[in-house]
Amino acid sequence: MADKKAQLIIEGAAPIDLPVYSGTLGPDVVDVRGLTAEGVFTFDPGFMATSSCESKITYIDGDKGILLHRGYPIEQLAEKADFLETCFLLLKGELPTDEEKQTFDTTIKRHTMVHEQLSHFFNGFRRDAHPMAIMCGVVGALSAFYHDSLDINDAHHREISAIRLIAKMPTLAAMVYKYSVGQPFMFPRNNLSYSENFLHMMFNTPCEEKKINPVLAKAMDRVFVLHADHEQNASTSTVRLAGSSGANPFACIAAGIAALWGPAHGGANEAVLRMLDEIGDVSNIDKFVEKAKDKDDPFKLMGFGHRVYKNFDPRAKVMKQTCDEVLGELGINDPQLELAMKLEEIALTDPYFIERNLYPNVDFYSGIILKAIGIPTEMFTVIFATGRTPGWIAHWNEMISNPYKIGRPRQLYTGSEQRDYPTR
Ligand code: CMC
Repeated sequence: MADKKAQLIIEGAAPIDLPVYSGTLGPDVVDVRGLTAEGVFTFDPGFMATSSCESKITYIDGDKGILLHRGYPIEQLAEKADFLETCFLLLKGELPTDEEKQTFDTTIKRHTMVHEQLSHFFNGFRRDAHPMAIMCGVVGALSAFYHDSLDINDAHHREISAIRLIAKMPTLAAMVYKYSVGQPFMFPRNNLSYSENFLHMMFNTPCEEKKINPVLAKAMDRVFVLHADHEQNASTSTVRLAGSSGANPFACIAAGIAALWGPAHGGANEAVLRMLDEIGDVSNIDKFVEKAKDKDDPFKLMGFGHRVYKNFDPRAKVMKQTCDEVLGELGINDPQLELAMKLEEIALTDPYFIERNLYPNVDFYSGIILKAIGIPTEMFTVIFATGRTPGWIAHWNEMISNPYKIGRPRQLYTGSEQRDYPTR
C-alpha cells in the first residue's frame, strides 16, 4: 500500500522514514503511526490535516466543490435517487437493483414503529425541552429495547440495527414535535413513502388526515438526501470514536446526535433562522456584516463558511434550487427570504468573505425550505440528524467490519511538572 516514502528530520536526531499512501482520489497521506516508537507525536488540534481512518464511502474535494457518495456526484443523487436508495448506496456500496430497492423499502417500512414502552419516556421531559435534547435521550434509549441486535461483531445484528435506526428516526423525530405541541403521537403508515410518512406523522392528527403535498414530500426527501453523509465531520467522527470502544450502535448514534447539535455543525440551520430574526430588516444587514468581520465580536454569519469547502458547497447549490421550487409551489413571499437573499448578495461581494472563501453552506438554504414546509426552527437539527443517520451507520459499520483500534488521541502537555502535595 505504501507508494512513496517521507522523511522526518528532527534536529539532533536520525531521520525517520515514514510511509506515504495514495488513495483513489485526494491528497496523499503520511503514515505517522511509527512515530510513537521514536518518542514523538504529531500535533493537529481540530484535525486540520489528519486522516483518522481509511474509508470508501464519501469523497469531498473542497476546492472544486465536489461531493461523491460511493463515487456518485451528489447533484445526480439529489436529482435521480430517493433517500432510501441513497441509504442503500451508503450502507452497501452499490445502487440497488429494482428488486433490492423494493425489498429495502419494505424492510424499512416494517421497522418504523417504536416499542410502545418508549413513548412513556417522553413524559419525563418538559414540553419545552429542546427537541435535540429529547432525541439524544430516546435514540440512546433504543439500546434498552433491541437487545437482539446489539452484538457488534455479528454482521446480521449490525444490519438490523442499521435498518431500525433509519426506520425509527423519523418516527422519533415526529414524536418529539408532537410532544412539544401537546398532540397525540401519530403511528407511521406503510402505504406512504419515507418522506411522506414523516410529514404525515408531523402534521396530521387522528382527527384529520390530509393528503401530503407531493412537492413538499419531494423537497423533504431531497433535504434528507443532501444531508445523508459528509465523510469525517465532527458528528461522524464522534460516532466512529464512540464505536471504537465497542459501544452499541444506538449509543454511538446518540453520541453523533449530541455532536451534531452544536451551532458550528448541524445546529447552524437553526442558528441561520435565529440570525435572520435578529437582523430583522434589510436595513440592518450592513451592521451585522460588520459585526461578523469584527475580531472582538463572537458573532458569525451563520450558514456561511465550511471547514472543507473553500469554493462552494455543492449541496447548497441543489438546496437553493429546491428552495425556489418549494417557495414557488407554496406561493410564499417571505420577507425573511428576501433578507436572506440580500445577505447572501452582500456577503458574496464583501472582500472579507471573498478573501476567506466564505460561501453560503447547505444550512443557509435548508432552514428556509424547512420553514416554508412548516417545520418549526427548533426541529431543524433533528431533520439534519434524521438525514445523517445512514451516513453515521455506514461509517460505524465500515469501521467495525475491518480491523480497528480504539480511538485514543495524544496531547502536547503544557501543565505543571510533577510536584508534591504540600504538607499543611
Ligand atoms: N462569519 C464570519 N467570519 C467567519 C465565518 C462566518 N460564518 N466563518 C469563518 N469565518 C472567518 C474566521 O473568523 C477566520 O477569520 P481569520 O482568518 O481572520 O481568523 C476565517 O474565516 C477562517 O475560519 P475558521 O473558523 O478558521 O474556519 P473553520 O474551518 O475552523 O470553521 C466553520 C468552519 C463552518 C465552523 C465556520 O465557518 C463557522 O463557524 N460557520 C458558521 C456556522 C455554520 O454555518 N456551520 C455549518 C457548517 S455546514 C453544515 C455542516 O456540515 O455541519
